[in-house]
Amino acid sequence: MTRVEDSANPILVALDVSTAEESVRLAKTLIRHVGGFKVGLELLMGPGPAVVASMASLGKPVLADAKLHDIPTTVGRAARQLGRLGARWVTVHASGGSRMLRAAVDGLEEGAGGRPAGILVVTVLTSMTADDLAEAGISGTPGRQTARLSKLAASAGCEGVVCSPEELGVVDQVAPDLLKVTPGIRLTGTATHDQRRTADPAEAMRRGADYLVIGRPIVRASDPVGAVRAILKQAASGA
Ligand code: C5P
Repeated sequence: MTRVEDSANPILVALDVSTAEESVRLAKTLIRHVGGFKVGLELLMGPGPAVVASMASLGKPVLADAKLHDIPTTVGRAARQLGRLGARWVTVHASGGSRMLRAAVDGLEEGAGGRPAGILVVTVLTSMTADDLAEAGISGTPGRQTARLSKLAASAGCEGVVCSPEELGVVDQVAPDLLKVTPGIRLTGTATHDQRRTADPAEAMRRGADYLVIGRPIVRASDPVGAVRAILKQAASGA
């Protein structure tokens, strides 16, 4: 069984818009062209978590990118709510430690009530460099930190990690069974915005990504379907 549910399509489009109406319009435009949807902080803090349910009702897997990080009980209960709303995956920050990660796994499983659902652990944000890590008191390279946190994710029963394309190989080495979801994807020569550790779609697929999380290059494009087609074409050359 392939780990990618819509194996023909690795794109999870980040619906980074501010209203529920825009997210529905965009999702309906893209539904036949992408593998799933990501609902992030902008939608979760605006129209709210009900957007997860409306996206799930469209029939594609939904990643609720809540980036939870709190005490274990609070995170477990929040993950349970997102599971009830139909999230296929929920993100949590690895630095909350293994008890928090296990609480998230249990809470999501309970909320999903038997439907497939898993926790994805955010390792090192793709916007961060080694200097940013040092500033936050974390020694070592993004690769070393990702390796450490991937082992933690695997031992806590999480389904996968969110990591930069640059760290896909490291995750494979230390925790080969984890699902690898990677943001920071840009076609060569296009704007990288606030992302720092990026790769093009083909390179990310070559390095073993299961899913590519892509926002602005699709959402802000004048022709979002055309942008998806260009990305998929490029990705296929690396798969
Ligand atoms: O627009 P862009 O393609 O850069 O969007 C990337 C998306 O992935 C954003 O929604 C961002 O919140 C998310 N993300 C990320 N880096 C992570 C985890 C999630 O960029 N480590």
